[in-house]
Amino acid sequence: MTVKVVVVGQGYVGLPLALAAAESGHHVVGFDTDTARVEGLNSGKSPIGDISDNYLAAQSLFYRASSDLADLADADVVILCLPTPLDESRNPDTSILIEGAKAVAPHLVKSALIINESTVSPGFTRDLLAPIFAGHDLAYSPERIDPANKNWNVKNTPKLVAGITESARARAVDFYSTFIASVTSYSSVEVVETAKLLENSFRLVNISFINEIADFCSKMKIDVREVIAAASTKPYGFMPFFPSSGIGGHCIPVDPTYLAAKAREIGASTRFIDLANEVNLSRPSYFVGVATGMLGSLSSKKVIVIGVAYKPDVADVRETPADALISLLRSAGADVVWHDHLVGQWKGEASAALSAGYDLAILVNPHTGADLDALGSIPILDTRGGY
Ligand SMILES: NC(=O)c1ccc[n+]([C@@H]2O[C@H](COP(=O)([O-])OP(=O)(O)OC[C@H]3O[C@@H](n4cnc5c(N)ncnc54)[C@H](O)[C@@H]3O)[C@@H](O)[C@H]2O)c1
Repeated sequence: MTVKVVVVGQGYVGLPLALAAAESGHHVVGFDTDTARVEGLNSGKSPIGDISDNYLAAQSLFYRASSDLADLADADVVILCLPTPLDESRNPDTSILIEGAKAVAPHLVKSALIINESTVSPGFTRDLLAPIFAGHDLAYSPERIDPANKNWNVKNTPKLVAGITESARARAVDFYSTFIASVTSYSSVEVVETAKLLENSFRLVNISFINEIADFCSKMKIDVREVIAAASTKPYGFMPFFPSSGIGGHCIPVDPTYLAAKAREIGASTRFIDLANEVNLSRPSYFVGVATGMLGSLSSKKVIVIGVAYKPDVADVRETPADALISLLRSAGADVVWHDHLVGQWKGEASAALSAGYDLAILVNPHTGADLDALGSIPILDTRGGY
């Protein structure tokens, strides 16, 4: 079975999904309102690290990008992969998803199956998207993509599916099963919406927990990485998490707040998420304190922050803890530059070369192969557990 698919949003989630569907023979349009991105895609330039230009070119028989709503008219399957960030007050901001859904809905044929892959609060698909797509089959299937992961990708990561109707569930399972190895369906969209948020809340809580343990180990003058290695020898009941200057990216620091917001709405508590958010957001200021302790004062000290992307080997700076860290270091009087060859340009500044000409280097998320030897013998604050 091959069908015409339109994937709305060609970012970190939508582009790999669209290309995986095209690879299996579906006729895919990657719809995006960013015309520069669309032009780039159609001329063979991938905007994301996980998709090579060669792989993009190899799908050109069955894939093209478009900003033209007319391309939705004969779609059999429409998949929403739009951003669901937090607003400036750190509350869920679903306006892009709602507006995007409203823009595409009038252009669809009644038989089109709509699948939402954007992360949402439990109840959102039924309460807010179903009215926009009234009369259509509507399903929810969260994306679990882990950028830069060499082992797990769209095709081999198990897919969760649920439908507002039985027909939507069955059609979504059939569609995904044409190119994804494991597809399982559940009794309601709320179960699957909550499962996605549980996965990411689990990571937020545990990473925040290990960060607190790392600070404890630092005060104990023991190496938290050795402690984690020792605990990891337990063959059951333990899973390692690793310290950092804070969690970034579009998922882990964001999605749990979608769960917490729903909890507040229905009078349930999410104290673990609230505390984990607090611990996570306090990491940059904690490390400004450590840096001050190392140098005495930060005033006029030359500091280089290394690896400003939210994790190694990606160029994505969304929610990166490096942002707050650099601001706080500058507020304390330090003269700060940053190095990240994958990010290159960020907030009007360019990546600085690694050298020994600094009073302190702070390792946030150095990429694989970063030449840390170039730092010579300057003091290094390794926020990943080496402090
Ligand atoms: N990035 C991840 O690792 C990841 C993993 C799992 C789930 N998710 C979830 O997937 C969703 C999408 O995230 P992402 O990281 O792919 O976002 P992204 O910002 O990388 O991509 C979104 C794309 O949508 C486009 N867009 C915005 N408004 C549009 C509109 N009205 N019509 C068409 N295109 C429009 C943007 O131009 C952009 O190219 C979010 O809900 C996110 O939480 C992300």
